[in-house]
Formats: sequence, structure tokens, C-alpha cells
Amino acid sequence: DLNDADPAKLAAARAAVALVEDGMKLGLGTGSTASVMVQVLAERVKAEGLRLRCAATSQATADLATSLGLSIETLDQIGRLDMTIDGADEIDPDLNLIKGGGGAHLREKIVASSSDRMVVIADGGKVVERLGLFHLPVEVLEFGLQGTTARIKAALDEIGLDGRPILLRKRDDQPFITDEGNLILDLSLEAIPDAALVNRTLNALPGVVENGLFIGLCDQAFVGRDDGTVVELH
Ligand code: A5P
Repeated sequence: DLNDADPAKLAAARAAVALVEDGMKLGLGTGSTASVMVQVLAERVKAEGLRLRCAATSQATADLATSLGLSIETLDQIGRLDMTIDGADEIDPDLNLIKGGGGAHLREKIVASSSDRMVVIADGGKVVERLGLFHLPVEVLEFGLQGTTARIKAALDEIGLDGRPILLRKRDDQPFITDEGNLILDLSLEAIPDAALVNRTLNALPGVVENGLFIGLCDQAFVGRDDGTVVELH
């Protein structure tokens, strides 16, 4: 229910949904902020009869959207998207992001990369001078997990990020499983001096499927405040 929504998230979501036009092909993000956005979008679709084609970045978002009357297609059914609206865990001054706090960054990165424009919505707590205080999620195959973890550790050592804790993400005491059936390692890097280097380094390792750094993908961000105002970054 939007009446219970966090005012900062709601303000950011409304600003992004205002960009939606009839006939658009849209990517729908994942997380608590994106969920507010899906609700705002569904209201607009109902009120204005917009014809949209939507792809979701997670099963959770697909389920929510469908329950609100939006129809969801696969990315391959739609092809190239006009715009994706998604949340983020951290946003730096160049609009590079950490995502994946909800474990959906693999599909999120594919959807964002298939979009002409990625719009991020967030509350003010997500804006940082430098990425890295939030743990960096890395989706890995379960197969060969120990070796993959060791390769990540060695690769971080090599780029000067030695001794950083690597934790297998759990939910209810069991390993967290992504929509693609993989595991998540959370890296406590504290600060990431060169996000592009960390992105390249991690994704080059066998066993790594995708890390949560979004470099040069986000075009515009709406940051909501508790008083309902929004700051636009681009
Ligand atoms: C999901 O995997 C994430 O990338 C989310 O977009 C991110 O964690 C932001 O989520 P919240 O809007 O819930 O903070």
C-alpha cells in the first residue's frame, strides 16, 4: 500500500515514473524502492490506460507487477528496452553503483545493459563519495565454491585489497540462492578506489557469474528526501 510507503522512496519513485510514456518498453528493478515504483507505475497505467511492455529483473518483481495488473514478458520477447528504473545500494558522484543487496544484480545488470537509459531511484542514505562501505555482492556458481572464493581473495590481494572478509550470504541459516540458482559472496571492501578495475578483475575469474558494480550504466538518479523533495543527479 502506497500510504505506508517510505516518503523518500515514494518521492524518488514518482519522479522516475513521471518519465514513463505510452508505448514504452520498460525494465522493472528489484528491492524495496523498486517495489514502490512498480506500485506507482501500476496506478498510472490504470489511471491513464498506458500501453507498456515490461520486463522484470527478478521473480519477486515479476510477481508483484503481475499481482498489480501489469503484464510481464521476458527480456527476449521484448528485446531492447527504452528505460529501466531500479534501486541501488550505493551511488557515487559519477553515478557508478553498488547493487545486489537483494541478490538480484545479475538480472539487473543484464536488464540495465539492454536499456537505452537506466534511471536509479533511492533515498539519501545511498549517496556516497566513494563506493565500498556497503558489501559488494558477487554471484558465483555453487560448483567449485571454495576455489572461486580463493581466486577472489588472491585477485583482491593483487590489486591491493588484501585481507578483505568474504562471506557466503545466508538466509534463514541456509545459503541464499539467486533466481538463477547461484550463490552470493559478500565482499567487505570498505572502500573501492578503482571501481572499474574491481569490476573487471572479479568478472574475469572462473566461477564468478557477476558482481554488483554498475560502471557507466546509470544515466540519471532521483534521490528522495523524507520531506518529499527530490534531487536529480546526472
Ligand atoms: C537488488 O538486488 C538490489 O540491487 C536493489 O536494487 C538494491 O539492493 C536496493 O534495494 P532497496 O531499494 O531495497 O534498498
